[in-house]
Amino acid sequence: MIDLRDSKVLVTGASSMIGRSVVKKLKSRHAKVTEVFHEECDLLNWAQTDAVFQKEAPDYCVHTAGYNGNIRFNKLYPADIFYNTTIMGLNVLKACAFSGVKKVVTPLASCAYRSTDDFLREKDFNLGMPNESVEAHGLSKKAVYHFSRQISKQYDISAVCTVFNTVYGPYDSFDINKTKVVGGLIKRFIVAAENGDKMVECWGTGKPRRELIYCDDAAEGILQALEKYFDVKSPINIGYNEDISIKELAHMIADLTGYAGEISWDITKPDGQYRKILNSSRMKDYEILVEDRTPLRDGLIKTIEWYTNN
Ligand SMILES: NC(=O)c1ccc[n+]([C@@H]2O[C@H](COP(=O)([O-])OP(=O)(O)OC[C@H]3O[C@@H](n4cnc5c(N)ncnc54)[C@H](OP(=O)(O)O)[C@@H]3O)[C@@H](O)[C@H]2O)c1
Repeated sequence: MIDLRDSKVLVTGASSMIGRSVVKKLKSRHAKVTEVFHEECDLLNWAQTDAVFQKEAPDYCVHTAGYNGNIRFNKLYPADIFYNTTIMGLNVLKACAFSGVKKVVTPLASCAYRSTDDFLREKDFNLGMPNESVEAHGLSKKAVYHFSRQISKQYDISAVCTVFNTVYGPYDSFDINKTKVVGGLIKRFIVAAENGDKMVECWGTGKPRRELIYCDDAAEGILQALEKYFDVKSPINIGYNEDISIKELAHMIADLTGYAGEISWDITKPDGQYRKILNSSRMKDYEILVEDRTPLRDGLIKTIEWYTNN
C-alpha cells in the first residue's frame, strides 16, 4: 500500500473533469501535487514533456490527459484521436520512466474492449476489435496499455491502467463534438425547459444501456489503484456493475431539469454499441471503491447544478 501523504504526484490533463477530481482528492490526502496544463506543456511534444518531468521529478503520476469525444467526433477525427491519445500516452510513460517515477496510473475507456454485450472482464481485454463507432479511441487506449506493460518490464516503474465506462460530473465537456450521453441530454433538456418546448428529439432508439460513474468516484478509483493495485499485466475495471437504458436516463434528466414536454426518438441516427458493462469483481478483490459510490440521481443533480451555474 502506497501512502500518498507528502509524496510528489504529477497530474496531466489537470483541467479535465477527471483530472480536477484527482487533484482535489490528492490534496485531501496531503500529497504535493503538480498540475500539468495543456497551455504550459504540449504532451505531444517529447522535449516539453520530458522537461516537465525532469524539472518536477515526481514520485508518482496520474495521466488524465486525453483526446476524445462522442460518436460524432470519433466518426470525424479517428486519425487525430488515435495519434494524439497514443503519442501523449507514449511520451508521458517514457518521461515517467526516464525521470524515476515509481508508479503511474492511466485511465482507459471501456471502448478498448471488444464489441460485445456480455460483461467486460479484464481477462478478455486483449480479445477482438472495439466497436467500429469508437474504434480509434479504443485501439489507442489499448496501445497505451501495451506500452505500460513494456515500460514496466524494462524500467523500475509500475505502470498500471484502470478502465472506466462513461464518466460524468461537473466540468464535463458540453461542446457539441465532445459531450457524451449525460452532458448532451442535460444541455438539451435545460434549453428545452427554458424555451418551454413541447418536444425534444433524442438520437437512436433509446434502448442501448450505459454504465455511468460519477467523476469523484472515478478519481477515487484511480487513486486507490495508485495506492494498492500493482498488477501491471492486467488493467483493472472500475465501475458500479449496473447500467441504465438511455431512454430511462433521458426521462430521469428531463425530470431533474424541469422539462415537462415529450421525448421522441430519431431511429435513423446510430445507437452505437447496445451494451457495455464492466465486470467489477477484481476491483472488489482489491478492495477498491468499497465505500465510495455516488447514486446516479445525486450525481446528476450535482452535474445539472454545476452546468446551470456555469
Ligand atoms: N470522460 C469519460 O467518460 C472517460 C471514460 C473513461 C476514460 N476516460 C479517460 O480519462 C481521462 C480524462 O477524461 P476527461 O473526460 O475528464 O477529460 P478529457 O475531456 O479527455 O480532457 C483531456 C485533458 O487532456 C488535455 N490535453 C489534450 N491534449 C493535450 C496535449 N496535447 N497536451 C497536454 N494536455 C492535453 C486537455 O486540455 P485542454 O482541454 O486544455 O486541451 C484536458 O485537460 C482521459 O484520458 C479519458 O480518455 C474518460
